[in-house]
Amino acid sequence: MKTLKTAIFPVAGLGTRFLPVTKSVPKELLPVHDRPLIEYAVDEARAAGIENFVFVNARSKKALEDHFRPSPALEAELAAKGKAAALDKVRQPVLGDALKVVYQDQPLGLGHAVLCAAQHVGDQAFAVLLPDDFLLCDRPCLKQMVEAWRFSGGNMVATVDVGRDAISAYGCLDVAHGTGRLLAANGMVEKPLASEAPSTHAVIGRYILQGSVMAALAATRPGAGGEIQLTDAIAADSAQSKLFGFAFEGRRFDCGQPAGFAEATMTMPGLTAKGLSAAA
Ligand code: UTP
Repeated sequence: MKTLKTAIFPVAGLGTRFLPVTKSVPKELLPVHDRPLIEYAVDEARAAGIENFVFVNARSKKALEDHFRPSPALEAELAAKGKAAALDKVRQPVLGDALKVVYQDQPLGLGHAVLCAAQHVGDQAFAVLLPDDFLLCDRPCLKQMVEAWRFSGGNMVATVDVGRDAISAYGCLDVAHGTGRLLAANGMVEKPLASEAPSTHAVIGRYILQGSVMAALAATRPGAGGEIQLTDAIAADSAQSKLFGFAFEGRRFDCGQPAGFAEATMTMPGLTAKGLSAAA
């Protein structure tokens, strides 16, 4: 059976759309309800069976790592005060040895960030989760994807049907044919004109990629915006790996920008009780 044990979390971006907050607070630590964005993504990966969590971080954003490490002084104080529920919340995110951190010293784009994690991937398949794509799903998105990928293999990207009016803001999947949620694809087109978009399926921040994508990334030259694009490397890998979209069941919020964040926060309470009781 195909296994997926490593997930990469690119978190080294500047978060300029959230300035001035992100001058000192990493975007990925902003809370939806009572937990930071990054914790939802890590929990999603855990639920999908991930065992190695690789953060591609910036040296100025170490608070992100601290969130997943023990906090002995705080834990001792909460224990002494008998605050068991609070103590659980502090301990729950701790990843121990499963947390690996590499640094991206310059924010040269998502593809470059993923390449920074190459030493922790080798030639094995790996997942990439962008924590600012906040997903509300009854069944965690990556878990849904892994179940489909075990049959399909290849490279897989999560997709959302955003309609023709919105597609030009996204990477767009060129769908060849679809069976249920699994969409066989010819490739991807970055931010196409609405009139020229090959489909209305937008690529969002969940990927399952073959190890060969790392080699393709190493050979990829800067593309749009002078950044090294992950989509270019996935396209370059198409000679050896099939490409699939996965139209996951659930809702996506763009928490990379304030309006999406506000929408996620307003939507969350109605679904929280269900989500928490399902997870309990
Ligand atoms: P975004 O493009 O949404 O994040 O990247 P950003 O660049 O931080 O935000 P803006 O555009 O300046 O507002 C999605 C994810 O990829 C990471 C980000 O931290 C975020 O989690 N990223 C982005 C990197 O790790 N490195 C990069 O060079 C770019």
